[in-house]
Amino acid sequence: MSTLVMRQDLMRRTVQPPVPVPADHEFGRLELLLRLRRNPLTIWRRQHFQDRIVAGKSLLGYGVVLSDPAAIRHVLVENVANYRKDDLQRAILAPGLGEGLLTVEGEAWKRARRTLAPLFTPRRVAALARKMLPPIEAQVARMAGRRRGRIVDISQDMTRLTYDVLAETLFSNSIAGGAAAFGEALTRYFETQGRIDPLDVLGAPSWLPRIGRIRSRPAVAFFENRVESIIADRQALRRAGAPIEGDEPPDLLSALLDARDPETGQGLSDAEIGANIVTFIGAGHETTANALTWTLYLLSLAPEIREQVEAEADAVAGDPAAAALGGEGLAMTRAVIEEAMRLYPPVPSLSRAAIADDEVGGVAIPKGALVIVAPYVLHRHETLWEEPASFRPERFLPGARERIDRYAYLPFGAGPRICIGQQFAMVEAVLALSLMVRALRFDHAGDRPPRPIHQITLRPDGGMPMKVTPRR
Ligand code: HEM
Repeated sequence: MSTLVMRQDLMRRTVQPPVPVPADHEFGRLELLLRLRRNPLTIWRRQHFQDRIVAGKSLLGYGVVLSDPAAIRHVLVENVANYRKDDLQRAILAPGLGEGLLTVEGEAWKRARRTLAPLFTPRRVAALARKMLPPIEAQVARMAGRRRGRIVDISQDMTRLTYDVLAETLFSNSIAGGAAAFGEALTRYFETQGRIDPLDVLGAPSWLPRIGRIRSRPAVAFFENRVESIIADRQALRRAGAPIEGDEPPDLLSALLDARDPETGQGLSDAEIGANIVTFIGAGHETTANALTWTLYLLSLAPEIREQVEAEADAVAGDPAAAALGGEGLAMTRAVIEEAMRLYPPVPSLSRAAIADDEVGGVAIPKGALVIVAPYVLHRHETLWEEPASFRPERFLPGARERIDRYAYLPFGAGPRICIGQQFAMVEAVLALSLMVRALRFDHAGDRPPRPIHQITLRPDGGMPMKVTPRR
């Protein structure tokens, strides 16, 4: 409990869930390196939550941390051409995600984004929502079938759930060699790849081996090979004109094979299709799983809000998919997920490198400077939020949500590189939460509060033990 705070204000019934207490002092090189390695969430100092722009030199070079909505809009939208993804982020993500949409730059990114945008339109996501239902229902049934009151690590259940949803929406679950082995390789990849390597921080040349990456290499190779054979199998079926089981509505693999650049008519190469499949899994799996894990945790701290979410789930039981697609029926369910992503943003930090000199809010951004927009800091900034540390989902209910500055809440980023899977993720999360709480009640069962740790995504260190009880 020493570095975590948790306070329950019984008078006002607001809950302040645990986070590392921000330090007051500046860090020396070694301390910063250790913090980056162990848990980058602990590099944020009190000053970051109070000042909207914090600039200075550190191990990472000259850096500017922006929590000023206008400055963020400048970097991510107005002057976006002056900023590219920085080398550290690329070093962490690129080895697994290859030339997928998340990691490519410049013309290659523009072409890929144009080509892939039609895969995630609201109409397409609505069709995909139908494919999400069976894997979510199967996960709920698995959880309901366990011994009553058994304590389980719910973060593993959520990882399985979001993985199964991706397997179904991407490939109609036709994974050669079995979904379980594929999923295990993926988990190994995240466990080994996810830590920041000091060599990357120090800008060491890429040929110097990074321990985490060496360990993750077999896992990366395994699932890249599997993806290759999934694509080859599907192409063979299509060439033969054979029916593709479960591909109605068409899955994302069919859509990737049919995708054409609207400007040139060109399709994607097999390598690009493979890289984007791995990217969709890499970007869409752990993120959504963590959003759901933290949501269930927060609901277990706030029984009154949990009851409201349960009541919504009971009321839309007939057609939860329609409600998840934006109907009013699940307003509190959606608000709870948004508030959970405010307090525990699955992507806690975004970074860019300045291509040429620039200036924001009177602060110079020299060429090469690192610009950080950290949703974790922004979402808890003392000048932007009332009671920033409290779990108050009503901020996101219709009527209140419109008052939140667009650039003060960025779980999915902003500007041209905003998350392409945003609607997909929200529909999936709302649907999954609603179906889960309709059948089950989740209570945190750890003997101490969970410790949030930043490992590519923001996850509970050591998992999230919860007691799961059937509601009826
Ligand atoms: C709660 C779930 C999710 C969160 C919080 C999330 C968050 C983000 C964020 C913050 C970015 C921007 C990164 C940056 O600007 O540096 C991003 C980009 C991206 N996300 Fe998501 N994401 C989620 C789910 C998904 C899903 C389900 C998919 C795909 C099925 C996906 C695919 C992508 C891709 C491909 C990009 C790169 C877009 C580009 O650069 O053009 N994400 N995501």
